[in-house]
Amino acid sequence: MNHLKVHHIGYLVKHIDKALSEFERLGYAAVSQVVFDGIRKIHICFIEKDGYRIELVSPADSSSVVAGLIKKYKNSPYHLCYETPDLDASLAALAGEGFTAIDMPTPAPALQNRRVVFLMNPFLGMIELLENRFPE
Ligand code: NI
Repeated sequence: MNHLKVHHIGYLVKHIDKALSEFERLGYAAVSQVVFDGIRKIHICFIEKDGYRIELVSPADSSSVVAGLIKKYKNSPYHLCYETPDLDASLAALAGEGFTAIDMPTPAPALQNRRVVFLMNPFLGMIELLENRFPE
């Protein structure tokens, strides 16, 4: 799995604008606009500091994919995302290694509509795969 490269840490926040101001106070800089992902009903903003890229994610409403998670975890990191040159091959390989896909590969509006998929592992929780290929 050496072809998997860490792309970002997903970080749940209740209020994305307030969280962004607090992260900026700690020295992080926004590297994207706050983007609305209508598929997942979330607001997303990427920030960076010291070579670390963090994805702030907040639920837009109670139908959001993270509406349940935010109740459980509050403001907290909740997934690591790995970039892969071949999403389908990595998905198949991980499925044979104890990971279970929890959704289908779907375009991510906050990431130039590159495809992402989420998987669970009983010993390390949730990961995300991001295709390192841009749609035509
Ligand atoms: Ni993510």
